[in-house]
Amino acid sequence: MADNLRGFRRTHMCGVLRETDIDEEVILMGWVQKNRKLGGLKFVDLRDRTGLCQIVFDEEVSVEAFEKATNLRGEFVIAVKGIVKKRFSVNNDMPTGQIEVFANELRVLAESDVPPIHINDDDNAKESLRLKYRYLDLRKPKMLKKLMTRNKIVKVTRDYMDENGFIDVETPVLTKPTPEGARDYLVPSRVNNGKFYALPQSPQLFKQLLMVSGLDRYYQVVKCFRDEDLRKDRQPEFTQIDIEMSFVDQEDVISINEGLLKRIFKEVKGIDIEIPLKRYTYDEAMKRFGSDKPDTRFGFELVELSNVVKGSDFVVFERALNNGGTVQAINFNGLKDTYSKNNIKKLEKFVADYGAKGLAWIKVEEDGVSSQISKFLKEDEMNSLVKAMNAEAGDLILIVADSYKVAYDSLGALRCEIAKQQDMIKDDKYDLLWVTDFPVFEFSEEDNRYVAKHHPFTAPKEEDIKYLETEPEKAHANAYDIVLNGFEIGGGSIRINTLDMQQKMFKALGFTDEEAEEKFGFLLEAFKFGAPPHGGLAYGLDRLAMILTGSDNIREVIAFPKTQNATSLLTDAPAIATIEQLKELGIELIEEDNE
Ligand code: AMO
Ligand code: AMP
Repeated sequence: MADNLRGFRRTHMCGVLRETDIDEEVILMGWVQKNRKLGGLKFVDLRDRTGLCQIVFDEEVSVEAFEKATNLRGEFVIAVKGIVKKRFSVNNDMPTGQIEVFANELRVLAESDVPPIHINDDDNAKESLRLKYRYLDLRKPKMLKKLMTRNKIVKVTRDYMDENGFIDVETPVLTKPTPEGARDYLVPSRVNNGKFYALPQSPQLFKQLLMVSGLDRYYQVVKCFRDEDLRKDRQPEFTQIDIEMSFVDQEDVISINEGLLKRIFKEVKGIDIEIPLKRYTYDEAMKRFGSDKPDTRFGFELVELSNVVKGSDFVVFERALNNGGTVQAINFNGLKDTYSKNNIKKLEKFVADYGAKGLAWIKVEEDGVSSQISKFLKEDEMNSLVKAMNAEAGDLILIVADSYKVAYDSLGALRCEIAKQQDMIKDDKYDLLWVTDFPVFEFSEEDNRYVAKHHPFTAPKEEDIKYLETEPEKAHANAYDIVLNGFEIGGGSIRINTLDMQQKMFKALGFTDEEAEEKFGFLLEAFKFGAPPHGGLAYGLDRLAMILTGSDNIREVIAFPKTQNATSLLTDAPAIATIEQLKELGIELIEEDNE
């Protein structure tokens, strides 16, 4: 009812009025947060994006407005004209608490049903309800604030990239698969029946082609799509800040990104971060923290005990070592009495999720140790173990004997879990670091072959090229991740830029020439025409925003996110297609077997 606005133009936002505005006539518009009667007056807290302002309806100012105010209910949209006065009962908890607006005109712009969730920050509605009514959920001040912080990150990024000569170029959404390790979302083509576009898992190949084009410095804030198991830091569609540069080495990419991170932390959080940031090689991060995205805000580092316990009679240790595995432990200093046997059982369940078949414990006492594995170890073996762990009375040692992968995964997660349980992680402390020198390959048990750890366009280190065909597990890459508080917020690499090397890499990954040609022929072709040395990085914007807003899930910083099952409770997507649509696309559905 735009008519309702005739002659009414908003003069101020609700949250900005202060004592300096006293005696001004203002027009405010927004939602009724709260209305109440007190004595002969009616009060409304009026809300918009900027905050709340108290409106007073007084018969002596306007009988008509006073009468109309009787019908107001929560979430009605109204416009109010009135005079700013010194507030009778000052409220120091509210930014506008020094003033109130005495209304002389009220217009109801839209009515509202009773909303299914409370529009305030204390609302504890189930997330499913919040997602179904997301537009109401986003009315909450804390949700608006998160969107604004996200906006600020993007704004600062755009400013910085622009100042540093980066050009924003859009890349296709209907494209061919990009190998980032997830499943593709496919879109059937109507005009080319039987053929499918893939939604990009990242703009990787296009940004490399832009370097071949001579663009020199590219960036894009871009949606990416990955069909993978969802977790608190993963969504099927998410946003990258995607960057690529020409004529650079790893140090150039790291340096430009440290500048960007410094600006973001300063302008978004008011925090001066120290650069250059800490760096760990992949091997060091795994060894010390059991993770390639370590949270280093607390200690609890891993210690390898394989050499110390070698030859012991404990069959669990021997079996792991004989199978090429490892015995790894963490000294949880001072926590001997914090964890009872029962509590340790719970930790054993926790590590079981990461594949660990058990969790051996040793409690260091004033006069020796208590442990369920004492009976398997000789006294001097136990003494060497305690010594290797640098343990003292009061310490708790937890041990996993398994493959390196399981030992690292389980203890890497356990150190974070215990730090969380012991409240050792301070939310306002930010731990930013680089992990460098990733392996080129990782062995995929599922496919029984080596796959690219990063992606197949990552350049191996010059000195490791010799390993590609013979000992691929030894090859390291010019690849780096940026890690914040134990989350991988970004990753990138220096790329291969010659046809010869790229073909070698595809071969090492087990692609036949035909497969490589079919999938990435256009990139190989481009490399025939002068591809400059290039490299880059992509941030997960959602993850960065999640951490900088103190949220515990990326859904909190995405306006319209998907559920764990990749559905939208708001729109009900994905939805069925009609028979006609499918026919046009040349698609026939196979009936689900209901047995
Ligand atoms: P990568 O696959 O590491 O690299 O992705 C870059 C960053 O994107 C974020 N991210 C996600 N965020 C939310 N939900 C997801 N499902 C998801 N998947 C990834 C992470 C990650 O660090 N093309 C390369 C980059 C490059 O080499 O320049 C790439 O996409 O924060
Ligand atoms: P068992 O003799 O199998 O009962 O194991 C004795 C103790 O060793 C138990 O407390 C188990 O938790 C622990 N344990 C078993 N397997 C492992 C393992 N792979 N790593 C560490 N501890 C283990």
